[in-house]
Amino acid sequence: MTLRSVILGTGSALPRRRVDNAELAKTVDTSDEWIVARTGIRSRYIAGEGETTSSLAIAASKRALEAAGLPATDIDLIILATATPDQTFPASATTVQAGLGINDCVAFDVAAVCSGFLYAVTVADNMLRGGAAKTALVIGSETFSRILDWEDRTTCVLFGDGAGAIVLQAQETDAATGRGIIANRLHADGRHNGLLSVDGGPSTTGTVGKVRMKGQDVFRHAVVNLAQVMQEVLDDAGLSAADVDWVVPHQANARILDATARKLGLDPARVVVTVDRHANTSAASVPLALDVAVRDGRIKTGDLVVLEAMGGGFTWGACALRF
Ligand code: UT7
Repeated sequence: MTLRSVILGTGSALPRRRVDNAELAKTVDTSDEWIVARTGIRSRYIAGEGETTSSLAIAASKRALEAAGLPATDIDLIILATATPDQTFPASATTVQAGLGINDCVAFDVAAVCSGFLYAVTVADNMLRGGAAKTALVIGSETFSRILDWEDRTTCVLFGDGAGAIVLQAQETDAATGRGIIANRLHADGRHNGLLSVDGGPSTTGTVGKVRMKGQDVFRHAVVNLAQVMQEVLDDAGLSAADVDWVVPHQANARILDATARKLGLDPARVVVTVDRHANTSAASVPLALDVAVRDGRIKTGDLVVLEAMGGGFTWGACALRF
């Protein structure tokens, strides 16, 4: 037997307003044809009045708790991955905590942009297995629409808003066949942080700033880094690509998903794709896609699932788990 962090429930939430490419093309110099051909994106959800990173996170968390069949008061750790917190401080995780009616637990944000959820899962997994907590809510939530330059067509068409959450609990499981997280790997290489960043911040300009990206450079690094880190977690877990039931990747671009699957020799039918309907929701994309595939019945208890993401920093990571 071995102690593992097991996913007991998943949940997600989207803003009310859905914006398709044609609607965007009315105000931005772009077209549905260009966006679909270069990215696979057809629509995204954009937060409106009263919809914030914490409100989406709370809604996703409630669904995850309901799926897990646990009351919020069972949670003793909340880690929220976000690059778009409600405020510079306090951590939005504490706003989520208060919104869920939890009066005492550990709560903090993790900032690793698009790979934030992988960072948060890895931290939670280590805290759970180390005994610092028993049951965690791990959330990815973003309102990227609020830091987009809506006059920059090279970035504003690519992103959307949303949230996803999982309930993770430390449980004794069978080492060979048991459920739970089997392996995690994280990386960062700050030499590239100018390729995908925000041109502001509290300590530099005193403003929030807008997203800036050198898309082609990010694309090139993404395929290489993602294929490599997925291979690392498979090696750590003693598994091969053929053992994988589902890959739940960060949803940045359908072409990246295809190229990464090809590089690893994975069947593209085993890759969960939601970028067409959600666009790139940064730290929310992996838990959002996971929840979609769990609720539509694709991912089942016992399936071998690999999560992966890469984003600004650069940061990247992967996680192999038995669902
Ligand atoms: O989540 C973090 C990780 N992020 C990523 O992984 C993003 C990685 N990068 C990408 O997904 C792609 O590089 C993009 C989707 C951002 C861009 O696709 P691309 O095939 O690399 O296009 P490009 O940047 O080479 O641009 C090609 C052309 C340019 O025009 P010229 O110079 O060839 O005349 C752009 O100005 O497309 C033009 N263009 C657009 N046209 C219509 C750029 N954005 C748009 C647009 N609509 N929205």
